[in-house]
Amino acid sequence: MNIFNNINELRNSLRGKVPIAFVPTMGNLHTGHLALVERAKQSSDCVVVSIFINRLQFLPHEDFDRYPQTLEDDCRSLSALNVNSVFAPDEKILFPTPQEFLLALPSIADTLEGKFRPGFFRGVATIVLKLLNIVQPQVAVFGKKDYQQLHIIREMVRQLNIPVEIVACETVRAQDGLALSSRNQYLDREQRKEACRLFQTLSQLKNEIASGRKDFPALQQQATQLLSQRGWSVDYLSIHKRSSLMPAQAHDEDLVILGAAWLGKTRLIDNLEI
Ligand code: PAJ
Repeated sequence: MNIFNNINELRNSLRGKVPIAFVPTMGNLHTGHLALVERAKQSSDCVVVSIFINRLQFLPHEDFDRYPQTLEDDCRSLSALNVNSVFAPDEKILFPTPQEFLLALPSIADTLEGKFRPGFFRGVATIVLKLLNIVQPQVAVFGKKDYQQLHIIREMVRQLNIPVEIVACETVRAQDGLALSSRNQYLDREQRKEACRLFQTLSQLKNEIASGRKDFPALQQQATQLLSQRGWSVDYLSIHKRSSLMPAQAHDEDLVILGAAWLGKTRLIDNLEI
């Protein structure tokens, strides 16, 4: 497995390799990330994984400076999966000068995550576009764990005619249902025990809807109240159309419930398709 910091060296080593399957990450890899790598391997013998903590997608008060960095362990895991190349650039490589060209995003990027993390998706879309331009893969794999991110990247690829197929992977969960996330390690023991309640709440909502309830605002409010009573601070718990991520109307089908909530100082997000 080759580990690259330099863009030209990466590109030279990938020359002529088709197809390339690409998995962008911010590192601190867990089983969820590795499932994306496994999926990428189904598409190509040449899998490239990027590891880059992207400053553009963090707000000033967020955890950019303490985001866990575990490059050596990450490379060991990726090497064991026979990944072809890891692209782990220094910041100066991707941002030799300040990134002044930034994508303008559709209004869906200002809802849900975007409402609570203004500029987040602009930062994500800009770095993903840069990485796609650098790696030039035929396939790129993303997790449904970040459902709105996946939606926005699909739309970016479609509307900007980027020649890449976006493949989505199911969310990998701990035994108790908690979606794996690098941020789970910020939770203390009590919080970790409580954390699975977010997925349980989504599952309860799913059951209610599956049994015919259509009063979505009331359902959302009830679920929010339930979590709040247990000490969570809920940013949103919200039922949407899968195709557009617009709020669901009673007659809509193919829905997804999206949630984000704080346990202490840790913000968890999750979702569940219905
Ligand atoms: P990161 O949080 O490292 O996630 C990298 C990829 O792993 C994303 O596609 C994410 O959806 C997926 N992922 C994370 N946890 C998962 C889980 N439990 N199950 C399945 N997939 C999971 O998402 C980012 O990085 C960044 O925004 C990035 C796209 C790399 C741009 O900087």
